Amino acid sequence: MVLSKQINKDQIDIMKNDTEALLSFLEDQNDGTVIYVLEKFGRLENGYSKQPLLNLLNNKNETIRSLAIKNLAKIGDVSLLDTFVNFAKQDESTEVRRESVSAIGRLRNEKTIPALIKLLSDKDPKVVMQAIRGLLVFSNNNQIKKELSKLLEHPNELIKEVIGKEINGVSYGSKNNGKHDEFPVYLKNTIVHGDVIEILKYVPDESIHLTFTSPPYYNARDYSIYQSYNEYLKFLEEVFKEIHRVTKEGRFFVLNTSPIIIPRISRAHASKRYPIPYDIHPLLVKMGWEFIDDIIWVKPEASVKNRNAGFLQHRKPLGYKPNAISEMLMVYRKKTDKLLDWNIHQYSLEKVKKSKVLGKYETTNVWHIDPTFDRVHSAVFPIELCHRVIKYYSFVDDLIFDPFAGSGTLGRAAANLYRHFFLTEKELKYVNRMKEDLIKNTNLFSSKEAEPKFVDINNFIALTIGKI
Ligand SMILES: C[S@@+](CC[C@H](N)C(=O)[O-])C[C@H]1O[C@@H](n2cnc3c(N)ncnc32)[C@H](O)[C@@H]1O
Repeated sequence: MVLSKQINKDQIDIMKNDTEALLSFLEDQNDGTVIYVLEKFGRLENGYSKQPLLNLLNNKNETIRSLAIKNLAKIGDVSLLDTFVNFAKQDESTEVRRESVSAIGRLRNEKTIPALIKLLSDKDPKVVMQAIRGLLVFSNNNQIKKELSKLLEHPNELIKEVIGKEINGVSYGSKNNGKHDEFPVYLKNTIVHGDVIEILKYVPDESIHLTFTSPPYYNARDYSIYQSYNEYLKFLEEVFKEIHRVTKEGRFFVLNTSPIIIPRISRAHASKRYPIPYDIHPLLVKMGWEFIDDIIWVKPEASVKNRNAGFLQHRKPLGYKPNAISEMLMVYRKKTDKLLDWNIHQYSLEKVKKSKVLGKYETTNVWHIDPTFDRVHSAVFPIELCHRVIKYYSFVDDLIFDPFAGSGTLGRAAANLYRHFFLTEKELKYVNRMKEDLIKNTNLFSSKEAEPKFVDINNFIALTIGKI
């Protein structure tokens, strides 16, 4: 790329309008420079000489061919249709083929319709997707509608989804007319002592802006004993379905889990490891959560259980046991047709401004955070973890939910960041721990009305009566 430093945008602009100069320049350049020039080519009007770009279509480098097609498409010249069709059908590179179909679409001309319809049966889903895009420009045409409807049976999920939405009007949208930034006032800073499954029955659809939770670790800790792993997964599935129902359109669910180990019963048996995040993921997708990101929470090695004692001595393969210093934060969004911008536009400009994540923030999906140890609860969230999730995935004044609240760290973090919380926890000792903690911090709450309310399930039902 030596030459790329010597040639600047102005020079490229000059050469762009001087076919001969461009042809002779391109003749003896290395691939890097040609790619650089093609990427910086900018606008091209109809009337531009196509020849230098057409010459590059014979280049061995697929990126060069692809960029040449991309630039030819900018000219908007229907006489290039046959060239684009040839490359769409025959090029060995999937990227060049995709770019060629995109170029056909960009012509926005009825003459392209037969070629685009043919490309709907291409083997490469990316090519089909581009052909759909090109045809949607003419979506009032009944023949095109008919051809596109056939793709409802297509094996590719993204194609089925686009066709469902565009042709059949399938929508994941909200059925709720309530305002997106509001929620039922009786949920505000309310902590309910009881079983989350029972409690959620009394929470209206689409009340919650963000859920962040760490569910029980199967039978790895002393609380929550399940008869089987299957029963445990069924329980979580039921809770997460309810969370989906009570979550507002297009909002987030962040789940903290990790594989766990159930120790062996004796030296004659092996211990068993359960890959909880991987088993939960398909259940979440099936119930309508869209996978967004995986964040790895990394703890210092000295803070986790040491599993290396044996291997350190014997060093025999197969007996290797790494210390588990990571947990997962799986980030999901309630599936919707609406873009994130729609969610943001539900708030006033002032609220969006107040919620901005200013200053330093974590730019990677690996979060190094020390664990927190608590005298009452054996598995509490570090508050820094809660602060990050709340800041990145909610707005000021939102309602943040933790169904498995434990010592209530998420509630405290929400109040610190001018959000509200709704917590459920079934063990009285942990509810009492929360009481102690939140009552000590009443300065976090701006008014009497905002102060935390501790209720049992019966009192909670009473709060909701006539309001659902
Ligand atoms: C891993 S801990 C969560 C700790 C919490 N993140 C914190 O910062 O303290 C899981 C919690 O879920 C609670 N729990 C288990 N089953 C429950 C249920 N059915 N309803 C409500 N809470 C439940 C347990 O008592 C436990 O406190």
